[in-house]
Amino acid sequence: MTMPKRDILVTSALPYANGPIHLGHLLEYIQTDIWVRFQKLRGHQCTYVCADDAHGTAIMLKAEQMGITPEQLIDQVREEHQRDFADFLIEFDNYYTTHSPENRELAETIYKACEAGGHIARREITQAYDPEKKLFLADRFIKGTCPKCKAEDQYGDNCEVCGATYTPADLINPRSAISGATPIQKASEHFFFKLPDFESYLREWTRSGSLQPQIANKLSEWLDAGLQEWDISRDAPYFGFEIPGEPGKYFYVWLDAPIGYMASFRNLCNRMEGLDFDRYWKEGSDTELYHFIGKDIISFHGLFWPAMLKAAGFRAPNAIYAHGFVTVDGRKMSKSRGTFIMARTYLEHLNPEYLRYYFAAKLSGAVEDLDLNLSDFVQRVNSDVIGKLVNIASRCAGFIKKAGGQLADQPENPALLKQFTDKAETIAQAYETREFGKAVREIMTLADVANQYIADKAPWQLAKEEGKDAEVLAVCSMGIEMFRILMTYLKPVLPAMAEKAEAFLNTTLTWGALDTPLFGQSINKFKPLATRIDPKQVEAMVEASKAPAAEPKKPAKSAQQGKKAPETPTEIEFDDFAKVDLRVARIVKAEHVEGADKLLRLTLDLGETQRQVFAGIKSAYAPEDLEGRLTVMVANLKPRKMKFGLSEGMVLAAGPGGKDIFLLSPDEGAQPGMRVM
Ligand code: 2FM
Ligand code: ZN
Repeated sequence: MTMPKRDILVTSALPYANGPIHLGHLLEYIQTDIWVRFQKLRGHQCTYVCADDAHGTAIMLKAEQMGITPEQLIDQVREEHQRDFADFLIEFDNYYTTHSPENRELAETIYKACEAGGHIARREITQAYDPEKKLFLADRFIKGTCPKCKAEDQYGDNCEVCGATYTPADLINPRSAISGATPIQKASEHFFFKLPDFESYLREWTRSGSLQPQIANKLSEWLDAGLQEWDISRDAPYFGFEIPGEPGKYFYVWLDAPIGYMASFRNLCNRMEGLDFDRYWKEGSDTELYHFIGKDIISFHGLFWPAMLKAAGFRAPNAIYAHGFVTVDGRKMSKSRGTFIMARTYLEHLNPEYLRYYFAAKLSGAVEDLDLNLSDFVQRVNSDVIGKLVNIASRCAGFIKKAGGQLADQPENPALLKQFTDKAETIAQAYETREFGKAVREIMTLADVANQYIADKAPWQLAKEEGKDAEVLAVCSMGIEMFRILMTYLKPVLPAMAEKAEAFLNTTLTWGALDTPLFGQSINKFKPLATRIDPKQVEAMVEASKAPAAEPKKPAKSAQQGKKAPETPTEIEFDDFAKVDLRVARIVKAEHVEGADKLLRLTLDLGETQRQVFAGIKSAYAPEDLEGRLTVMVANLKPRKMKFGLSEGMVLAAGPGGKDIFLLSPDEGAQPGMRVM
């Protein structure tokens, strides 16, 4: 079975460089990574690039709030993102940033081509403007009272209380979410990409046949409704690329974001022999291009992006593959329920391959939401991965070792093995069409067959009988061979386990080698491939996701997309501040809290009284570093009942989190109980 070799370029959406990766993001990267690993396993040239989406107002403001430059923020976040992805075994060929020289050059090239083709319009528009901050305000940066239900503090486009949608102009008492100032209306010149110029081209692209039906329908709907020109400029101050020859005007973040796919690839081509940028991107290319995205960003990838590419003489994507959102236990991820789970929090409690397996088992090629049901997750991973898959190897390995480590020369049941290899095309087809759930079902059906075979032959019984050694070896060698085939099929989903299996089997698992059994060869000592999930690990993860230190500071408005609401430092009156009773306290005891991975239990001496406080500072301090130290605490905070006990106050600390949490400590001259002024 020789397949023509394909040259494929694959991308996942670029995460914003202003917050951590969470399980909602991970669905997409896991889906893409499995698909890419599958293509590579089949011997194709498949390149997977991604980057941080580093521009825009939100990033500019967040950096300002943190007292650092946007460049510092995006570097820091990119490092965290890369660590999270690597730990989830997401293997990019390149992970870059949109704030790069390659991206600037490509954005300018594409823009200039659009302009030369007459596809850029300019006109003045009037927008809300923050007169204090001297900044134009997008709808989500305006807050006010809902015109319908009168709920206060609602965003400029919709009310989270009654669900009404409106424009910021409808808000009662609108104000800037950044400074609190009342917005004024201000005019400025904007640049527009003339999307309607590409209507017939986009219609043709939509009908190309390779799009998911839901996407093709959505695009047709938009096309039928009539396309609008797209505003691609933003006024200074803005963190992004200045439009060439237009001082004070910047490319809107969504213009240079998808160009970031190309820029990341170009950056890779500059370092890699044999990858030719033009071959992949020029019109008429013989390579394939796929963008994996979430369902919320279809318009950017299905309308603006192909039109921009066309305008600049580049090829169109073969397809965009959209997935739905992640829900947990049937509901939107939620911080209060502890189901808004960060990648890092998951990793502190559970094996990344288990999430990969669970997502794979539930993914289809359709644009559907995926529910992570936590008890089903435990049950399914334990039953499939441990109970079925690993079990085959662990039941057979010992007998092979006893027999000297070499597999039998011939298959005991060739027809049974053929049943396993005969499924290769069905499983490949399922992977190819992103029907990973179907692939997993096929594979697990085969795992059942293998386990049944072993149970029927009962090598542990045979081993007790005289003269049955050859039979034991024959049966267990069959078991190992079936395991090899199953592990090859699952390698895109469980790459780390597959690597351990390769060490055990003394072979490399590739699709091409499916038909080449290991009979007659020696295998290595079996080491446990995986351990069962204890439901307590999941409970602890949920608990940690509720813990104060694990929570991002402000609720994300549209968390599934990784988009965050702007953080607004709300001004308080002096009287409010005066209510806070800050005191010097001595940490007389600091202890680990069982089942909490972020918290320490502190006993604080205030001179007259002692208080118990739970603090989310375990990532930065060992208990022994704290005992005896002075710190500052909020002494009149209403006691809060936490899962681990009553917390009677709060200690003050600074820093971005992780290892960088700095407990505030007054000079040693201070005495416990002293008021902090
Ligand atoms: O929606 C988002 O999170 C964007 N940062 C995705 C960008 S994808 C691409 F176009 F860059
Ligand atoms: Zn309302």
